[in-house]
Amino acid sequence: MSSSSALRVAVTSSKFTFPSSAFVATGLGLAGLYYYNQERPNPTPSLNPLLAAAPLAAVVAGKSQADFQSVYNAIALKVQDQDDADNGAGRYGLLTRLAWHASGTFDKKKQAGGSYGGTMLYAPESTDPGNAGLEVARDFLAEFLVEYPWMSRGDLWTLGGVVAVQEAGGPKINWRPGRQDISDKSKVPENGNLPDASKDGKYVRGVFTRMGFNDRETVALIGAHCLGRCHTYNSGYDGPWGPSFNMFTNDFYVRLLQGWHVRKWDGPKQYEDDETNSFMMLPTDMAMKEDSHFLKYVKMYAEDQDLFFNDFSAAFTKLLENGTQFTTDNKHLVFQTLDEQDI
Ligand code: HEM
Repeated sequence: MSSSSALRVAVTSSKFTFPSSAFVATGLGLAGLYYYNQERPNPTPSLNPLLAAAPLAAVVAGKSQADFQSVYNAIALKVQDQDDADNGAGRYGLLTRLAWHASGTFDKKKQAGGSYGGTMLYAPESTDPGNAGLEVARDFLAEFLVEYPWMSRGDLWTLGGVVAVQEAGGPKINWRPGRQDISDKSKVPENGNLPDASKDGKYVRGVFTRMGFNDRETVALIGAHCLGRCHTYNSGYDGPWGPSFNMFTNDFYVRLLQGWHVRKWDGPKQYEDDETNSFMMLPTDMAMKEDSHFLKYVKMYAEDQDLFFNDFSAAFTKLLENGTQFTTDNKHLVFQTLDEQDI
C-alpha cells in the first residue's frame, strides 16, 4: 500500500476531526459524533471567473493518451493534497457527484442534456438546488482548464469523476475526450432533471429510464454512495453512508441490507443504522431494498464486489457519455492510478 492509500485508510478508520471544537475522536465507536456543526465552505454559488474565461470548443485532436494521463495525474495529486478536506471525506465524493450531475440531465428520448456542453457553468443549471455544493467541485477543477486549455469543461468534469473513483480504489473506468463547451444559454437544461431523494422506487426507475438505464445499471450507479457524505447546507440531508467514505467498495449494498430506522431529527426524512445510529440512507437508497426488482441486484453486489465493480464501471462510462457523439476513431482511454505509477 502506498503512503497515500495508507493515509486514506488511517483517516477513514481511526480519526475524525471536529472543526468547531478541534476535538479528535478515536475509533468507530464515536462515529455518532459525525453530526458536527456543518459550516458551508463556500456560501455563494458563483460563476467562476476562471471557468468563464476558459476558451471554448476544446481541441482534442492530436492529443495522446499521455497528455490525458497528465491531466489525470494533476487532478489526482490535488485530490491527494486535499485528503483531509470535508472532515476526512476528501474530494472523492464531491468530484464523483460533479461528474454524475453534469451527466445526469440527459434525456434519451429528447436527446438533450448530458455532460457534452459543460452547461452546468450557467444558470439555471448552476443554481439548480440539486446541484448545491457543486460550485466547490467546479472551482476545484477550474485551474486545470487554464493549465490544459485544450480540455473542455465536459471532458474535465467527467475525467474528475474517473480520477475520484479510481484513486478511491474503485474499478478502472473507460473514458474518452470529445465534449465541446457550449456557451449558448438556450441549450442549458432546465431544473428538475436530477433525482429527488425523498421519493420511492417507481420514481427512481422513471428518472433512470429517462437517462436510458435499466434496473441493474441504476442499482450499480447508486452504489457510488459508498463515497462522500450528505451536507445539510447542500441538500438538507446529513452524514455519510458508512465509515469508509473515501474508499470505493461495495459497502453501500452490504450496509443497506442491514437494519435501518427513520432518524428522529429536525430535518428531512432519512434513515440511520440500527447498530450505531451513525450512518445514513436516503429514502431513494432504501427504495433499492424495498423494490424486489432492485433488491435482486443489491444482494448480488453485496455478495460480489468484483461484479459490482464491473457493472459500475460500464454504467458510469455510459452515464458520462450520454448525449455525446464520439467519432469512431475516438477510442476509450484507461488511466493508471498514482499508485500504479509510483507517484
Ligand atoms: C436516486 C438517485 C440519487 C439521489 C436521489 C441522490 C441524492 C444525493 C444527495 C441528496 C446527496 C447529498 C449531497 C450533499 O448534501 O452534499 C448525494 C451525494 C452523493 N451522490 Fe447521490 N444521489 C443519487 C444517485 C447518485 C449516483 C447515480 C451517483 C454516482 C454515480 C451518486 C453519487 C453521489 C456521491 C459520490 C455523493 C457524495 C457527495 C459528496 O461527498 O460531496 N449519487 N446524492
